[in-house]
Amino acid sequence: MKALVLAGGAGTRLRPITHTSAKQLVPVANKPVLFYGLEAIAATGITELGIVVGDTHAEIEAAVGDGSAFGLQVTYLRQDRPLGLAHAVLIARDYLGDDDFVMYLGDNFIVGGIEDVVAGFARERPAARIMLTEVGDPRQFGVAELDPDGRVIGLEEKPREPKSDLALVGVYLFTPAVHDAVAELKPSWRGELEITDAIQWLIDKGYQVESTVITGYWKDTGNVADMLEVNRLVLESLEPGVHGRVDAASELIGRVVVEPGAVVERSRIIGPAIVGPGARVTDAYIGPFTSIAAGCVVERSEIEYSILLPRASIEGVRRIEASLIGHDVEVTPAPDTPRAHRLILGDHSKVQISP
Ligand code: G1P
Repeated sequence: MKALVLAGGAGTRLRPITHTSAKQLVPVANKPVLFYGLEAIAATGITELGIVVGDTHAEIEAAVGDGSAFGLQVTYLRQDRPLGLAHAVLIARDYLGDDDFVMYLGDNFIVGGIEDVVAGFARERPAARIMLTEVGDPRQFGVAELDPDGRVIGLEEKPREPKSDLALVGVYLFTPAVHDAVAELKPSWRGELEITDAIQWLIDKGYQVESTVITGYWKDTGNVADMLEVNRLVLESLEPGVHGRVDAASELIGRVVVEPGAVVERSRIIGPAIVGPGARVTDAYIGPFTSIAAGCVVERSEIEYSILLPRASIEGVRRIEASLIGHDVEVTPAPDTPRAHRLILGDHSKVQISP
């Protein structure tokens, strides 16, 4: 069995972060969200992995390399434009050959791994198995309709009037039968080849399509609120440890990780929180559910429930919360008079300023 990870796409809902970097590499507890997926795949025993990449291919390739760090052999497959999940299967056709495969969306975060579902699929080999979970607003997802025995009878992509509250989680298992389905597809209303349509094709042709409803945690980390929630969740299971330098005037409470080379001075950190390698926290307060990446500076400031990407700096700012702050961003206070804000913000930035 092989795995196919989708790591292309434009990441429009995470702009402006995704103008310059791949959405799959936004860190959760200082580790790219994609890496959690790669670890979950490696844990199933699968070793051959194809990664579908788009415009951000260089960055993904630099981060994942040949996959050996995960115990995987990675082949990169280039998708010129984000034309849909089924299009990714289409371009991976030669790579996948006649093997069964698990397809994993690189921005999805699933707690509890996929070992059981992959093992069950390998034993029973239905044409396809999908994973479902109950969601609050199914209109944002692919939605499944089940018969009373739990068999999948219909799928719809982003329906206006969902037939259930069971959304497709971004992990799919297929036998090579899916290639016949994909070859027949036409683009949907959003101009994409939809994997939901391919699975519906299998159902219509009488193939066996099964589902597993997961109750564990799942998030499609496509937007900032979900990103912060996943970060909170992962931080909660962090193994605390101080590997950097914390002075005597500082106080660490709860699950706090200080990574090697980080320096914490005259500060108070309430966990769960992580301070990345080489970061500097001085005269600051770091509140719960905060990830500070490598090389960041937090000085005379307060921050909570937020993610800082590498080398961001926050100096002399009263309080920041529920924020995602990009690479090399500088946040500083304005001079007292005149009372005005000076901003240099990238396209699609979102800023809330106290009046
Ligand atoms: C895709 C799928 C959708 C699925 C979702 C899970 O949506 O098309 O069926 O529920 O991933 O993350 P997209 O991210 O393309 O909007």
